[in-house]
Amino acid sequence: MNLLPPSVADLSDADLLALYTADVAAGPWLRVNFVTTLDGSASAAGTTGALGGPDDLRVFDLLRRVADVVLVAAGTVRDEGYGPMVLHDADVAWRRAHGEPDHPVFAIVSGSLSLDPGSRVFTEAPVRPLVLTSDRAAHGVDAALAEVADVVGCSGADPDAVDVTRVAAALTARGLTSVHCEGGPSFFGALVAADLVDELTLTVDPSLEGGAGPRITRGSAPDLRRMRPVHVLRGEGDVLLTRYVRAR
Ligand SMILES: NC(=O)c1ccc[n+]([C@@H]2O[C@H](COP(=O)([O-])OP(=O)(O)OC[C@H]3O[C@@H](n4cnc5c(N)ncnc54)[C@H](OP(=O)(O)O)[C@@H]3O)[C@@H](O)[C@H]2O)c1
Repeated sequence: MNLLPPSVADLSDADLLALYTADVAAGPWLRVNFVTTLDGSASAAGTTGALGGPDDLRVFDLLRRVADVVLVAAGTVRDEGYGPMVLHDADVAWRRAHGEPDHPVFAIVSGSLSLDPGSRVFTEAPVRPLVLTSDRAAHGVDAALAEVADVVGCSGADPDAVDVTRVAAALTARGLTSVHCEGGPSFFGALVAADLVDELTLTVDPSLEGGAGPRITRGSAPDLRRMRPVHVLRGEGDVLLTRYVRAR
């Protein structure tokens, strides 16, 4: 008796896209993507590089393909060494065929605006990136950063804080309703606290980190947010690719 879930290798890109777009409600939809070790670490030696494997990457690319915007907090952009948000040729071809712009918008969340305007994230961006920050930081933004990105104030009552509900609203206001968030843990914690997460795609890497790696969320603990499983797939290296949507 085989009790393991279906293998990603047996599925075409179209099959996978059908699976990953099932149960997506009309209107704004915020998907968060993470990889975790079996013992709950979101990184190994400081990054996710050793976790996930080729099928995780395949799905990761497909999720970018169908996104209007890829939303990432500044810590992850810095720690993971992000480059510009440039999709592969096959993804661009698919987007063109579906009437979408060639690449999603890259939106970066930062309170401090400690971002290098000379980095490839900005200088080689195919679409002008968005930087979502506090109202006060947006007001005092460096000319060099304002030159390469749209810097948007997203504060609520406190002009020094970034309000994640305003972040989501700023994306919706620009028509960016299909949101693919790639972390990291601090930002995910804020999204959970504000109950903004519609979906979590979580890859379980069959490894034990054993150290002090971070969890996939960090922050104040709100009430439990219940999620409903939609599917589980098996990828190369015996990773499990799980998909959950918010049980509302
Ligand atoms: N397992 C995975 O799938 C996965 C995914 C992503 C990241 N990671 C790992 O997570 C680690 C980084 O963790 P992290 O918690 O530092 O990541 P993070 O949430 O990406 O970054 C934290 C930084 O992002 C900005 N930020 C996040 N939430 C904010 C908020 N609510 N308001 C204002 N600014 C906010 C701030 O930037 P400023 O400092 O610029 O103000 C803050 O210092 C790395 O080891 C990375 O490899 C793992």
